[in-house]
Amino acid sequence: MIIAPSLLAADYTRLAHEVRRVAKAGADWLHVDIMDGHFVPNLTFGPGIVAAVRKVTRLPLDVHLMCSRPEILLEPFARAGASVITVHVELGDRVEPLLWKLRALGTKVGLAVNPPTPITHARRFLPQIDLLLVMTVNPGFGGQSFIHETVPKIQQAAAWRRAEQLDFRLEVDGGITFETVGECARAGADTFVSGTGLFGQRSLRAAVTKLRRLAARSAEAGARPAAPIPLAG
Ligand code: DX5
Ligand code: ZN
Repeated sequence: MIIAPSLLAADYTRLAHEVRRVAKAGADWLHVDIMDGHFVPNLTFGPGIVAAVRKVTRLPLDVHLMCSRPEILLEPFARAGASVITVHVELGDRVEPLLWKLRALGTKVGLAVNPPTPITHARRFLPQIDLLLVMTVNPGFGGQSFIHETVPKIQQAAAWRRAEQLDFRLEVDGGITFETVGECARAGADTFVSGTGLFGQRSLRAAVTKLRRLAARSAEAGARPAAPIPLAG
């Protein structure tokens, strides 16, 4: 189980302190949302911020590009110290060369799927990627409610991963809380991004521990009976 708190929900007035707090809380990765004001109607961090964050932690940086022109951003973010870079499958024909470029840059390769996009769109890329990010809210903002209709997509991706013996991580992002993490873990998710669900708690350490425990318990429960193979959606 990987727990990846999202920097989006941190206190930006004390960024270094927040990043260190995430590491001390026992989190595995730090998720960094890059929004360009075009692919999504919001703006966040550039490569300069990622480079600054890189200086204060050894945690893997999970960089999620919600950007219309990732072509011009892969190299700057790789150079800034990103460990995983995720691009969106909604970019269509441009996805394949983007994945090749990421591989060449030496970062781990991620692919994200928005809630309205069928999971079948990601299928042919699965052998090429290290991380599949199933968005569980429409990207752009933290603090939104989990979209339950995305769960069959997690199940389908997990079923493909099993059947084809692939080894990408299956990440969920958006509205992940103590209430929703179990449903995702039961469906096969193993990597959990959480912003407001973690930073909103009094103790980040206790919250990370609790989220991890809930995910692990549900994953076990999900593994026990033979999981039905859902229809692709
Ligand atoms: C949403 C971002 C998420 C966001 C999640 O567009 O991709 O990573 O930080 O925030 P919460 O956990 O608050 O839904
Ligand atoms: Zn994200």
